[in-house]
Amino acid sequence: MSNDITVALGATGTTGRRVTARLRLRGTPVRAASRSGRTPFDWFHPAGWDQVLRGVTTACVVPPPVPGPVHDVVARAEAAGVRRLVLLSGHGADDWGDSAFGPDMRSAEDAVRGSALERTILRASNFAQDFGGQPFRAPPAAGEPALPAGAVPEPFIDLEDVADGAAAVLSEPGQHAGRVYELTGPCGLTWAEAVEPISRASGLPIVHRRISPAGYTAALVREGWGEDEAQYLTEMFVLLERGTAAWTSDEVATVLGCAPRTFEGFVLRATAAEAWRC
Ligand SMILES: NC(=O)c1ccc[n+]([C@@H]2O[C@H](COP(=O)([O-])OP(=O)(O)OC[C@H]3O[C@@H](n4cnc5c(N)ncnc54)[C@H](OP(=O)(O)O)[C@@H]3O)[C@@H](O)[C@H]2O)c1
Repeated sequence: MSNDITVALGATGTTGRRVTARLRLRGTPVRAASRSGRTPFDWFHPAGWDQVLRGVTTACVVPPPVPGPVHDVVARAEAAGVRRLVLLSGHGADDWGDSAFGPDMRSAEDAVRGSALERTILRASNFAQDFGGQPFRAPPAAGEPALPAGAVPEPFIDLEDVADGAAAVLSEPGQHAGRVYELTGPCGLTWAEAVEPISRASGLPIVHRRISPAGYTAALVREGWGEDEAQYLTEMFVLLERGTAAWTSDEVATVLGCAPRTFEGFVLRATAAEAWRC
């Protein structure tokens, strides 16, 4: 157990709260920072940053959804004496090319890489847990998750593996310096293949339906999404359909010493937790 303070930026989100819980269980002092967190933090209100970073040795960063602010926070962290940064990013970011998806994560990676601090980047593929909610537009219980995705497999990762990986890296100073880990599930599944076990385990008649990117954006907007937000999520699917991020890696095992959790395991846990209810 260490008395060094870790700050989790984005500690109240789906990833951050899992990482924070793991660190606290290990006895690591954690400052849980976000707009609604116990430690108030806003990427767009620099006046509060010094207070958040005071006495911190390690920062775990879930980046904001726009490019830019991580550069300024990293500079402030260096000045405050922070020694290590661990960043959450997206799988295969080196190959995103001219995609309009991911400038937030790429900007955050640039900020972290450009710093003099010890740093580790965790690039996760899409979370299996995203099937339970908003990011994939329709909860499967609505009947038809209609997505602009077809035959390209996605190596869905269990979010618990991402959190385990982040907690391990955060707890092992020096061991992951300069590393970029591509964290994926054990195998790729098309969206239809992913929905199928959800349907079987839940007993709900769910079938994946492919729609066009434009149709998807329009559907999101009809559901109340902002144009920009809808377009951004659509761009992710357009990128995935290129297939450049469809590959699996064995880096969950590199970090954790065990195989990644299976998609079926996620389906069983989510079904037991009644995650498919609307
Ligand atoms: N979903 C996926 O499949 C996936 C896969 C790979 C990578 N990623 C990346 O992972 C990141 C998202 O992680 P997540 O799913 O944990 O996100 P999330 O659940 O949306 O949580 C976002 C966190 O950021 C905080 N936040 C939002 N706006 C803020 C602001 N202006 N100032 C300070 N804090 C703010 C939120 O708390 P408050 O609202 O309290 O501020 C919350 O704690 C993104 O960079 C995403 O691209 C996602």
